[in-house]
Amino acid sequence: MKKKTALIYGITGQDGAYLTKFLLTKNYIVHGIIRRSSSFNTHRLDGIYIDPHYKTNLYLHYGDITDSTSVTKNILQIKPDEIYNLAAQSQVRVSFDIPEYTSNVVALGALRILDTIKTLKLNKKIKFYQAGSSEMFGSAKPPQNEKTLFYPRSPYAVAKVFSNWITINYREAYNIFACNGILFNHESPLRGETFVTKKIVSAICKIKENKQKKLYLGNLYAKRDWGHAKDYVRAMWMMMQQTKPRDFVISTGKQHTVKEFINLTARELKMKITWKGKGQREKGIWNKKEIIAIDKKYFRPTEVESLRGDSRLARKVLKWKPSYNIKSMIQEMINEEYKS
Ligand code: NAP
Ligand code: GDD
Repeated sequence: MKKKTALIYGITGQDGAYLTKFLLTKNYIVHGIIRRSSSFNTHRLDGIYIDPHYKTNLYLHYGDITDSTSVTKNILQIKPDEIYNLAAQSQVRVSFDIPEYTSNVVALGALRILDTIKTLKLNKKIKFYQAGSSEMFGSAKPPQNEKTLFYPRSPYAVAKVFSNWITINYREAYNIFACNGILFNHESPLRGETFVTKKIVSAICKIKENKQKKLYLGNLYAKRDWGHAKDYVRAMWMMMQQTKPRDFVISTGKQHTVKEFINLTARELKMKITWKGKGQREKGIWNKKEIIAIDKKYFRPTEVESLRGDSRLARKVLKWKPSYNIKSMIQEMINEEYKS
């Protein structure tokens, strides 16, 4: 059978790396777009990438989703069966500092790919996956599902709402196979260092080993529905194997506060943290030392307080379910922390 070809925007990110690995095991030829940077940014692909002088099913190309000419050229050259758009300035806090850039990448990036698919009219029906986000729900009350109205609370989330609706619009207007995966937070050892789970696991491991003194955090009471990236990229692929395009929420259905995540991590490391004080004076104490403190710079101008997904549609139609729970995910993140 002819191998399928996938094109991944955002291949160097957390999900891009897991999706690449997954698609290679499914016998795909995988192409990924990387951005030129002053130092190598492909470390998450270490162990997967093979020099194309040797036999490989993985190819990397320079490009940028803010550059329409490169988007058109890459899609025309590669002629993929499936395009996964995972490219984003994905840090919600940072989107308040660079809202215009974030919107260009996140909102217009999706449009550039969709419009290329529409305009090129290649001799094949390209399927398109858009990385939607639970951030789009913002202030909407949990549990959130496909029918919940969006109430985005950051420039990032507003841009994701645009990409969600432009995906639906191109599907309806031009009969393109285009779907949105509305994914709740998902983490892993490959998570970027500034996201709260990775920041917590990495710091607490170092504090235990006496390699770091203190961890500074923002809002300890935000609630998130945290799953594992490996489970979530499988869901992306499952959506693309449907005969009709449809949008799905992907989530565990379980919710924890940031503080609970800290306590769970400490418990795995056999550390008991006690908490003192309130508000910006709250502190986490271990071994009589103050190891966690609040720094207001990590608060957001507008916060998403409570996310918990209802993924019954995906579980019924795609037969998707997560294989990790929060404990096994934290264990894996801790184990990898000690390897690095
Ligand atoms: P990530 O680790 O931040 O990866 C983002 C990827 O986008 C990186 O490969 C990055 O390249 C690339 N990128 C950024 N700007 C680009 C541009 N202008 N042109 C081309 N590529 C660009 O994010 P992730 O956690 O893997 O998430 C993947 C996608 O899912 C993102 O769209 C994110 O918004 C969305 N999402 C994530 C979660 C989650 O919890 N992880 C939940 C819902 C939705 P560099 O490596 O060069 O920076
Ligand atoms: N990053 C960070 N750093 N977050 C902190 C900190 C801190 O020091 N202290 C508290 N938090 C709180 C944030 O205010 C937020 O409520 C929560 O921890 C989670 O923050 P992040 O891990 O940065 O993730 P996020 O929920 O804002 O966004 C992630 O998930 C979205 C899906 O809901 C990102 O991956 C987005 O790209 C994704 O769309």
